[in-house]
Amino acid sequence: MNFSQWIRQIHRWLSIVFTVTVIANFVAMALGEPPAWVVYSPLLPLFLLLFSGLYMFVLPYTGKSRSEQRVGG
Ligand code: HEM
Repeated sequence: MNFSQWIRQIHRWLSIVFTVTVIANFVAMALGEPPAWVVYSPLLPLFLLLFSGLYMFVLPYTGKSRSEQRVGG
């Protein structure tokens, strides 16, 4: 697996982590006033998603061959 494939895998799993932290926010709010660490917990995965996502966004414009970008191919 090359670097851009790693980035795609990381982005995919970060999206799960991010989704879990958002759901945790809804659950915590249903139970009352959520603690600050729960409220801010989506920010780190979102921040990392932003950079891995921007990296994937520019990949098609870098001129590298598409076969280097494919997962498991
Ligand atoms: C924060 C800014 C984000 C940017 C700039 C971004 C950008 C991108 C880009 C460029 C791709 C590749 C699309 C392609 O195949 O051409 C992608 C894939 C994807 N993104 Fe994001 N994304 C962001 C946030 C998120 C969030 C918040 C989620 C979900 C909670 C998410 C979930 C995914 C998933 C599941 C894929 C497919 C990954 C795969 O092919 O395995 N992304 N994103």
